[in-house]
Amino acid sequence: MVNFLHISDIHIPDKKGDLWFGVDPCKKLEKLIELAKKLELNPSFTVITGDISHTGTIQSYNLAKKYIDEFRSLGGPVYPTMGTHDNRRNFSNILLGRPSPREEPPCHYSRTIEGLHVITMDSHTPGSLTGSFGEAQLDWLEKELREHQDEPAIIAFHEPIFFFGELGMFDKADAIRFKETVSRGNVLAVLSGHIHCPLFTMVDEVHYVQAGSPLWENSFNERGTLTHDSSSFNLLSYNEDPDGRPLHLPHCLLVKPVAFSEGTKLIEKKP
Ligand SMILES: [Fe+2]
Ligand SMILES: [Fe+2]
Repeated sequence: MVNFLHISDIHIPDKKGDLWFGVDPCKKLEKLIELAKKLELNPSFTVITGDISHTGTIQSYNLAKKYIDEFRSLGGPVYPTMGTHDNRRNFSNILLGRPSPREEPPCHYSRTIEGLHVITMDSHTPGSLTGSFGEAQLDWLEKELREHQDEPAIIAFHEPIFFFGELGMFDKADAIRFKETVSRGNVLAVLSGHIHCPLFTMVDEVHYVQAGSPLWENSFNERGTLTHDSSSFNLLSYNEDPDGRPLHLPHCLLVKPVAFSEGTKLIEKKP
């Protein structure tokens, strides 16, 4: 069994003590780390699906790096992806150690760990809330999946792709090509964040998993979006059968949301 964490939308500020709508993102993240230690989760690796920084500044990524080191001490490497609030240049320089003089090249990369092929993609569209990949990155994804057919893939990026349509959060052409590419590969799960709400669904026998956020949680009803002072992340377990062959794919990934809260206080999102 391989256990790993899926965390999202940590929204690190420039310095400790800075608040977003009265909520302290650093305190929330410290609670998450404390809880993961207390529960002895010992992940093989951790994926953070974007909105690592809230401000995109160098200071915020330097602080985020310290928290990422703490995640690493829980067990295994940490794989961050770009989010809506992230800045490519600072993300690439500080978190990936990959100096980039420009904003352009998408920050995507892949690693194989414990037999799983972790593919992180960059869905950030500068100046827009809509996720997109672009042709070059989708070509790269096809190649990655083709060359690693023996390793079940975990694909991670920020904006949820299964919401396209009326609630579209993703470029439709990119979403369609992504779905076709995924259907030809050995893909176990697609992990995302952005909406600060844990949600799970399955498309063509692939798990689509949304993580909540440690910062706050959104819920959606006919009156609009409600935001509560509650927090969550996901613990995922991948199981193979004793002969080392993957079980029937849809049933070999378990997703356990881990929630923590100081109550269900409604957050007034007034500037
Ligand atoms: Fe976010
Ligand atoms: Fe976002």
